[in-house]
Amino acid sequence: MDKEKKLSELDKQVANCQRCPLYQGANKAVPGAGNPNAEVMFIGEGPGYWEDQKGLPFVGQAGKLLDQLLDSINLSREEVFIGNVIKHRPPNNRDPLPEEIKACQKFLDEQIEIIKPRIIVTLGRFSMNKFFPGEFISKIHGQARFVDFNGRRIIVIPMYHPAAALRSVIIKKEIEKDFKKIREFLEKKEVKEEVGEEEKEKKEEQIELFN
Ligand code: URA
Repeated sequence: MDKEKKLSELDKQVANCQRCPLYQGANKAVPGAGNPNAEVMFIGEGPGYWEDQKGLPFVGQAGKLLDQLLDSINLSREEVFIGNVIKHRPPNNRDPLPEEIKACQKFLDEQIEIIKPRIIVTLGRFSMNKFFPGEFISKIHGQARFVDFNGRRIIVIPMYHPAAALRSVIIKKEIEKDFKKIREFLEKKEVKEEVGEEEKEKKEEQIELFN
């Protein structure tokens, strides 16, 4: 089965998912959307009002900012994949609960496994927690690290959530700056090997590429 087929099979499972109670209050499931061969995958938190209406990720105000940020580094939605930690909207946009995140984890993991992105950008603290539990986004945003995901090394760059940037000019400046890192990594293919060597020397699993 090719990647596209695998993702659409997964979308069907997400649409029928009853692994947690969130489906009961949701209008549409939002599995994620984009290029099955994306080099860059963005992971947000979960659907809000407009995403729940349309069944698509980041189509509200935060999505507009995400589009601008993508545009600023010459990327389009067609080139990347955009997903979320949870696939059904929580009531009144409340934070997802740990048990909801756990119930939904298998879908996100399968998406990563199918797409095999070279770079994952986490948007907000819930997706950051997936890779860097216990860290603070104010401290590590914009710092790329290698993460071993099911035997594959992925560059993970935690960033603020675009919704936070809509509330704060300072955070908006930070996310604009952090986005530039994505372009740097896309153009610097050999970073994988360079850091691989460094990693062997240091015998560490996660390496900071930038400070
Ligand atoms: N916020 C998210 O985290 N995800 C979306 O899809 C939309 C808004």
